[in-house]
This record gives sequence, structure tokens and C-alpha cells, in this order.
Amino acid sequence: MTISRALFLVALGMALGTQALAAPNESQIERGHHVYQKWCYPCHGPGTDKPGTNAMAAQGLKPAVLEERTDLTPAAIKGYVRHGIYFMPTFRKTEISDADLDAIAAYLTRSNKPAATK
Ligand code: HEC
Repeated sequence: MTISRALFLVALGMALGTQALAAPNESQIERGHHVYQKWCYPCHGPGTDKPGTNAMAAQGLKPAVLEERTDLTPAAIKGYVRHGIYFMPTFRKTEISDADLDAIAAYLTRSNKPAATK
């Protein structure tokens, strides 16, 4: 076996190993991003035409865009989504399933520090 072939196999093994470890979380976060784009982005995306983002900005919450926050907890996100707040609507399980909501929570807390993920 040549050196370069040996190195290639080591690199391949590392890539596969990493992927196997990261895959479940990664796909849940990706799914969360997808569901978020559909249901939340219209109000919480960046820009001045987004009522959720505007409400956050008016309260001085920074950053106003939900996707940039690192202080949201899954429990709080799920509470807001199932119960609504002011004119943010309630989302039923027929619209956003529990699994999809778990995915949204995983997506929105992806950059949190470990202590804030409970
Ligand atoms: C029709 C517009 C609208 C949609 C759609 C919407 N929201 Fe909201 N959301 C709001 C508004 C407005 C507020 C701010 C309410 C207030 O405090 O004044 C808010 C607040 C929140 C908050 C509270 C943030 C904080 O720290 O106070 C969270 C979390 C949230 N929304 C998550 C979501 C998620 C997740 C979705 C998608 C499932 C979603 N929202 C869809 C309008 C919307």
C-alpha cells in the first residue's frame, strides 16, 4: 500500500466516523430549518416587513431575528408555538407535529451554549 493510499483511507475513515456521529442531530436541525422557513420565517425573518422581528426590535430584544438568538430554550419555543403570544398565532399539531416542533427547537438552539439547551 502506498503512503498516499494509506492516508486516503485514514481520511475516509475519519470522514465516515464524524458523519456517523453527527448525522442524527444534523438532519434534525436541517429538518427544523425547513419547517421554520415555512411557518416562522414569514414573521421572524430578517427585514422590516416581518411582524415578529419588528415586535422583538421594538422591545429592544437583540438580536431581533430568532435564528440569531442563542438564549432561547426548547421549552420556551414550544410554549410560544403551542400557545401563541399577542398576535403570534397558535400552531396545532396538524400544522406542526411534535416531531417538527422538536426539530424547530433543535434548529433555533443549535448555537446555544450547553447550559441553555434544557
Ligand atoms: C403571524 C406572525 C408570526 C408567526 C407566523 C410566528 N410568530 Fe413568533 N412571534 C410573533 C410576534 C409578533 C411575536 C412577539 C410577541 C411580542 O412579544 O410582542 C412572536 C414571538 C415569538 C417568540 C418569543 C421570543 C421572545 O424571546 O420573546 C418565539 C420563541 C417565537 N415567536 C417563535 C416562533 C416560531 C418557532 C414560529 C414558527 C413555528 C413563529 N414564532 C411563528 C409573530 C409570529
